[in-house]
Amino acid sequence: MTYQVILPAAGQGKRMGAGKNKLLLELNSVPVLIHTLKVFEQDNACSKIIVAIHPQDEEEFKALFIKYNVAKEIHLVDGGKERQDSIFNALKTVETDGIILVHDAARPFISKEHIYRLTKVAEDTGAAILGVPAKDTIKKVQDGLVVETVERSSLWAVQTPQAFRVSLLMEAYEKAEKDSFLGTDDASLVERTGHPITMVEGDYDNIKLTTPEDIYFAEAILRKRSFS
Ligand code: CTP
Ligand code: MG
Repeated sequence: MTYQVILPAAGQGKRMGAGKNKLLLELNSVPVLIHTLKVFEQDNACSKIIVAIHPQDEEEFKALFIKYNVAKEIHLVDGGKERQDSIFNALKTVETDGIILVHDAARPFISKEHIYRLTKVAEDTGAAILGVPAKDTIKKVQDGLVVETVERSSLWAVQTPQAFRVSLLMEAYEKAEKDSFLGTDDASLVERTGHPITMVEGDYDNIKLTTPEDIYFAEAILRKRSFS
């Protein structure tokens, strides 16, 4: 069982407000980008790594690959305006057979065990995503007023990686482009093809670093891991 992975890394990190790409911020003195990359670099099942980058980060990213001894070949592609554009660019360079994973470079705590479980389900079904049951009560609000309380037991917070047969993800991206549909994750594009998507239960540690307080959560997760 092997897979290829696309790591979108071409964002600006606006909500983090660090004045640079948040993937360059360090956790335990190692950049977030390298934390994420190392998981896939060290996984023998990962046959190809494609990273979508912003041209302004290219030199710095390449220097980090050398500094942190990234031994596997990293295929760089130009990112686009939206995350979806970055992934579509990367998808055009993927081998056409097998399973492709898309994983946000901003989620450094993905475990090999969850990658394995997800990939296995995607091989059987064609499409699988990681998520966790929602912990909060979630309400629909319009103009400051509560419209309804959504039944929590059916709500899941969705993460990455998301895993698909390459041909299915390509079809979904081409359809989205044709229809000018912009989704917030890859599965929402695949949903529009009608192909069923299996939810695989992940882990609450697999956070995405989005706003400054996420750095404190990330440091706490690293501390916990160093004791286990
Ligand atoms: N990303 C990308 N290309 C874009 C936008 C985002 O490759 N045009 C990547 C980011 O680098 C990140 C992942 O997609 O690894 C998830 O996006 P997000 O968390 O929104 O990161 P940013 O877009 O960098 O942050 P912000 O939205 O706060 O600017
Ligand atoms: Mg963004």
